[in-house]
Amino acid sequence: MKNKFYITTPIYYVNDKPHVGHAYTTVLADVLARWHKLCGEDVFFSAGTDEHGAKIETAAMAAGVSPQKFVDEKAADFKNAWQVLDISYDNFIRTTDAGHEKAVSNVLEFLHKKGLIYQDVYKGLYCKGCEQYKSEDDLIDGKCPDHQIEPELMEEMSYFLKLSKFGDEIAGKIESGELKIEPAEKKNEILKFLEKGLNDISISRANVKWGILLPFPTQGGSVSGGDKKYTVYVWIDAFLNYLTGLGWQGKIPLNPSLQKGGAGNAINFFPPDIQLMSKDILRVHATIWPALLLALEMPLPEKIFVHGFFTIDGQKMSKSLGNVIWPEQLVEKFGVDGARYLLMSSLAYGHDGDISWDKLAEKYNADLANGLGNLINRTMTLAQKVVFKHTGEKNKGISERIKKLYEEIKPKEILEEIWKEINWANKYIEEKRLWELVKNNEAEAKKVLEELFTTIYDVAENLKPFMPETAEKILKILDSAEIKKGEILFPRV
Ligand code: MSP
Repeated sequence: MKNKFYITTPIYYVNDKPHVGHAYTTVLADVLARWHKLCGEDVFFSAGTDEHGAKIETAAMAAGVSPQKFVDEKAADFKNAWQVLDISYDNFIRTTDAGHEKAVSNVLEFLHKKGLIYQDVYKGLYCKGCEQYKSEDDLIDGKCPDHQIEPELMEEMSYFLKLSKFGDEIAGKIESGELKIEPAEKKNEILKFLEKGLNDISISRANVKWGILLPFPTQGGSVSGGDKKYTVYVWIDAFLNYLTGLGWQGKIPLNPSLQKGGAGNAINFFPPDIQLMSKDILRVHATIWPALLLALEMPLPEKIFVHGFFTIDGQKMSKSLGNVIWPEQLVEKFGVDGARYLLMSSLAYGHDGDISWDKLAEKYNADLANGLGNLINRTMTLAQKVVFKHTGEKNKGISERIKKLYEEIKPKEILEEIWKEINWANKYIEEKRLWELVKNNEAEAKKVLEELFTTIYDVAENLKPFMPETAEKILKILDSAEIKKGEILFPRV
């Protein structure tokens, strides 16, 4: 039986179009999904959008359209962007999908029956940007450090989930590596946070209309004109996408025999093997999400992987600063694979990264136009001068070193390994003065070309997950030993 591999991205808020930050996580998920497919695994890659809650309600109001119309438009923007970036997701889950809403409703009913939900008064500082209550410790100068806004004091009757029951168990599982959090620094951060134990969290909103209604009889709510209705807290709603994205409908308990994975029903892919995200949403993913799963008696994800954050020209990306880079712009300027390459090489493991149009263009010209593009062009032009056909082994297979880097989720470092080969090959052409050999020593020229072809086959094979179109193009060129006049893989910008 094939190994199953389930990978998720966060479902992004649809208050705006996707930007390079969202694109980074999504392209990384795509690279890993393609890699695991190439390794012969049975892969499911789930992407989607987070469409309920106060943030979306406000954005729709500002745009002057109904929330439903607003989220439909924005969800389409995300789908388009992912299509433009050649993202091979297996399912795109929207939290406004009827099946998802039904599952959320079932889950809340189950948790209520199980006695894990109770009513109480809630008072706290709420950041609309995060859709989270904040403690004083979380704030810098009284403001949410992620959104630069002062959270509002909110007091409401509320339903609570007994998260406090699960804190120790979660800490134990993270400590033992049953639930992996990488990089290690992030794991330690979460373990430190869990030392104080977990507080119960409010899972209902009386003043947010745009959401899924609490399914059990309630008291004191206000949503639909004071008729005692509450909507479900958007993070509870959102987390369940990792189940509903597989077509799960909230029938509980999940049949334990289905939990091991395998072919057939997509829910067999659960739990996720890798959940990608950045540091902004790690804490909720390492507390509320596993607590929900424990409450539902379901297995926890294998691994949560946290990548760094982008800044642009040293500043936070923001619409008001006007410095946002949109994925469509990247593709327009650098091509799909150029955009994918530039994204994947901009964040080093465990670090944030700064990008700018100048730096991106410079890197594109150096690595793609001059590096890879030039290598293919020169090799093929010279090969055509001696009517060369490659006969040797096509490629050496993927190196152990690169396999290990995939295990560790180090895309930038993998690309650096591949570019070592490309740079070696370009130098080799220089050293051997291949353009002279093809004129006066055909036998020696063919030996050099043989080595170059082997290296380029290898490069193309290695590039498949990152630059699928380019890899295919290169393989075609090599196999036909021909490059059309004027065919330029990466024109300089
Ligand atoms: N809707 C929630 C997630 C729910 S998942 C159950 C959310 N959405 S979000 O639109 O704010 O997306 C946050 C994620 O987008 C980050 O964790 C990261 O994956 C990606 N990024 C957003 N901005 C980013 C940068 N500036 N840099 C890198 N990644 C960033 O939170």
